[in-house]
Amino acid sequence: MSSIDPRQELATRLGLAEVPPARFGDVTDVAHRLRENDYLSNESIASVTFLADRLAKPVLVEGPAGTGKTALAQAVAKATGSRLIRLQCYEGLDESKALYEWNYRKQLLRIQAGRAEGSTEDWDALEEDIFAEEFLLTRPLLEAIRANEPVVLLIDEIDRVELETEALLLEILSEYQVSIPELGTVTATQIPMVFLTSNGTRELSEALKRRCLYLFVGYPDVERERDIILSRVPGISSALAEQIARVVRSLRSLDLKKAPSVSETLDWARTLVLLGKDEIGEADAVATLHILLKYQSDIDKATKELAGRSKGLA
Ligand SMILES: Nc1ncnc2c1ncn2[C@@H]1O[C@H](COP(=O)(O)OP(=O)(O)O)[C@@H](O)[C@H]1O
Ligand SMILES: [Mg+2]
Repeated sequence: MSSIDPRQELATRLGLAEVPPARFGDVTDVAHRLRENDYLSNESIASVTFLADRLAKPVLVEGPAGTGKTALAQAVAKATGSRLIRLQCYEGLDESKALYEWNYRKQLLRIQAGRAEGSTEDWDALEEDIFAEEFLLTRPLLEAIRANEPVVLLIDEIDRVELETEALLLEILSEYQVSIPELGTVTATQIPMVFLTSNGTRELSEALKRRCLYLFVGYPDVERERDIILSRVPGISSALAEQIARVVRSLRSLDLKKAPSVSETLDWARTLVLLGKDEIGEADAVATLHILLKYQSDIDKATKELAGRSKGLA
């Protein structure tokens, strides 16, 4: 085992005066503080989060939609008093929206103003002038690198960008720096915690994966889902929360086009509370299935399943 602390090593590489303090004491501390911020983790979520901080490495969080990947980064930011900087990915996202761009309009005004004054400024001087800090528009990745306060950088739904666009991220993910041809290299002045999320709609590049710790977040087990419901749906009883978690789990085991996610479980729980239910009868369940399921064929399958196991329901 190497005796060099990765945080210390990175701090030295970045030329920081001191090593920024680690955010978490141990794995239990992660779980505890996430829970205080209404996020229910499990063993792997808590330990990968802990390691990401200690190893100063980004985390790639993968799993089905609505299982708490984005919410994890948000909760880590809250729990550690860090500023959350989010880059929402989409098809067509490019450098100018992810990293930085030059403020052309302002540059143009500057050039015109120079001419109007009859300035004899030569091109080199002018060029140096308009490619300065003042004309730079900072986008989320550069923003995260330049921030002075502790930062959690969330690169959300990375699988939505084209494979080639991933390359934009590699320098940040391994070096915590951004190279701007006209300005030079900007290095981080703190050690941001970085979370990338993916719904797994495509394979990510090996280069990207190599730079990250990997965390798979699947559907929670019944106990954790019950706790998530209890923490997110005010006024719900523990018994109802547990019953909801059980029904949802049994529905997920059916061969559905789109299994219900945690977001849908929460919508369902809120619906049942609004309807004044203390427990779920088969009729209630069937009447509200459209909250959980978004395909008629799935609703039909679930209706049959619920009728079959209706003894388990009230
Ligand atoms: N472990 C969890 N603890 C608390 N709430 C959760 C958890 N997982 C999911 N949620 C809830 O489910 C919603 C959807 O989660 P989200 O992070 O948006 O999913 P994803 O990013 O994986 O698609 C969140 O708004 C949050 O309320
Ligand atoms: Mg998300």
